Amino acid sequence: MKAVVLVGGEGTRLRPLTFTTPKPLLPIANRTFLERQLEWLGAHGVDEVVLSLGYLPDAFRDRFPGDQVAGVRLRYAVEPEPLGTAGGIRFAAEGIDERLVVCNGDVLTDLDLGALVRFHEERRAEATIALTRVEDPSAFGVVPTRPTGEVIAFVEKPPPGKAPTDWINAGTYVLEPSVLSRIPARLNVSIERDTFPRMLDRPGRLYALRSDAYWLDIGTPEKYLQAHADVLAGRLGRPPVPGASERCPGVWEQGEVDVDAGARLEPPVLVGAASRIGPGARIVGSVLGAGCVVGPGARVRRSVLLDGARLEPESEVIDSVLGAGALIGAEAIVADHSVVGADATVEPGTRMSGARVHLPAPPH
Ligand code: GDD
Ligand code: MG
Repeated sequence: MKAVVLVGGEGTRLRPLTFTTPKPLLPIANRTFLERQLEWLGAHGVDEVVLSLGYLPDAFRDRFPGDQVAGVRLRYAVEPEPLGTAGGIRFAAEGIDERLVVCNGDVLTDLDLGALVRFHEERRAEATIALTRVEDPSAFGVVPTRPTGEVIAFVEKPPPGKAPTDWINAGTYVLEPSVLSRIPARLNVSIERDTFPRMLDRPGRLYALRSDAYWLDIGTPEKYLQAHADVLAGRLGRPPVPGASERCPGVWEQGEVDVDAGARLEPPVLVGAASRIGPGARIVGSVLGAGCVVGPGARVRRSVLLDGARLEPESEVIDSVLGAGALIGAEAIVADHSVVGADATVEPGTRMSGARVHLPAPPH
């Protein structure tokens, strides 16, 4: 089975991390998100994936120079300009004339894709959408269905309180090739706002299957942190990343790490290869990438440090994300869903809450 994965978005809500790294290439517990997604697709019988993208295409080629990842053959379809979700699918599926799986490239899930395909076949649907239930549907595509699973409406991002149901589009579809011919070529078209609603002109085409599998859109700092907490808690299997070893219950290490005897690690914690944690430091419910340095007396709580991030002595990072190579000066406090971009510096003694810190934006 072939799949198209939509990875063309700019990941605006995860800036400044996504200024340099496209969202699908950000790590989740020290493994590239896209690699996790490709492995999930492969486990459900997908053997070829076309990445539909346009934003920072070279980053993908640099990260995956070969044409095989996690046992799946990988191809790229680079859009000349953003074509939207439907336009991106149409462009990427050029030459494909068979049933297709499509997924958004920012959803962490263990959804049963096989069950979705079987449901699609049984209904003889033209397109089938996986649904998941969320507390606040207003940030998503809301999809009320009949008891048979037939879609009644597709309402993308309704105003708060106006959603007809809390079952939302989980961003995974099974499409017959005829859906592709419904999408005009070379135009910016949204599958959520245009293609799916138009298919409702006639009954019997568009179906949806509700699922209570693990599901999370990683597109905001809050959700990105949540994804880490969930992976560490074992909600997507153990170990949190292949090859990690459990030094004591809930404390995982990759390769050689240097943890001072006077440091405290409170599970769940994942420490990447060659990281150093100094005396009196405290790491609670967090992930450190490779080559991170946590200086003496520094504290990391419910946070994520990408590769090579450093904390100088007595600094503190709480509920926040540090990009690769970021540096937090001594006694600084970075808290409340702050995001520090790659290689950016927080001056010693600074206190910040909900901040975005980055180097000057790179020229486009
Ligand atoms: N190729 C390409 N071209 N991909 C794109 C483009 C484009 O122009 N625009 C967005 N994408 C990709 C993004 O990279 C992402 O993987 C996916 O399409 C969805 O875009 P988001 O920007 O993340 O949309 P969203 O999260 O607000 O809403 C979507 O996902 C929800 C579930 O997480 C919609 O599909 C909702 O209906 C859905 O509920
Ligand atoms: Mg999204």
